Amino acid sequence: MVKLSIPLELRRGDLRHDEEASLWSAFEIIKLIERFKPIAESRWLDFGCGVKMAQALYERDNPQDIYVGLDVFETQIEHLKERLASEPKFAFATVPFQNNMYNKHGEPMTSESLLPVPVQECDLLTMFSVVTHMEPHHTSAILKILRKYAAPDARLVFSCFADENQEVPFYDEFPDKPLMHARYRKSALDDFIADAKWETVYYGEPIEKVIRSHYVCRPV
Ligand SMILES: C[S@@+](CC[C@H](N)C(=O)[O-])C[C@H]1O[C@@H](n2cnc3c(N)ncnc32)[C@H](O)[C@@H]1O
Repeated sequence: MVKLSIPLELRRGDLRHDEEASLWSAFEIIKLIERFKPIAESRWLDFGCGVKMAQALYERDNPQDIYVGLDVFETQIEHLKERLASEPKFAFATVPFQNNMYNKHGEPMTSESLLPVPVQECDLLTMFSVVTHMEPHHTSAILKILRKYAAPDARLVFSCFADENQEVPFYDEFPDKPLMHARYRKSALDDFIADAKWETVYYGEPIEKVIRSHYVCRPV
């Protein structure tokens, strides 16, 4: 039984049909994060949050200082706000950004875009299965945007489709399903990370049923 069970129509991602498996994957990701940054007392900004990290924190009695979940999926965000209205350690907001898979008619996102975040310095900034659905100009922009909300000793953790041997810097694997698989050459992501003034401290290969390729970065 998931303590904060969320209706199927408000869940996204590969494991949306199996809420227990999705929650388990969130706990596995938290273990990975905690090799680099403790969750306890952290100010955590989760961009493209979906529901699973909020579910995982709630399941563990909210160790964080504050978890801020941002997503373009307004009905999901409204649902999370209502369900967690009495919990001061959670904040959620809808962001308006355009994305060819999830929010076709949204507003442009640029490196100057602002986020509705109640804290200016976050210890942990994350994007799980978000860059996997982003065009390069948006990936470059969001890395720069998140950098502005990072505390000096913050960690950025995000997952992506990255391949060191890919010939082209980027391709959209299924053009008839735009951005279902946004595939990057690893060096292209490395360049975006450096341009946004992050430094990679760890790069991990995919872990089945848990996470795609993933980066852990710190501000420089
Ligand atoms: C595959 S789901 C992953 C959700 C969650 N991070 C997880 O791991 O379960 C991708 C999420 O990114 C959100 N998203 C996509 N583009 C976005 C954007 N430009 N701004 C904010 N959220 C976005 C989608 O609405 C969706 O909730």
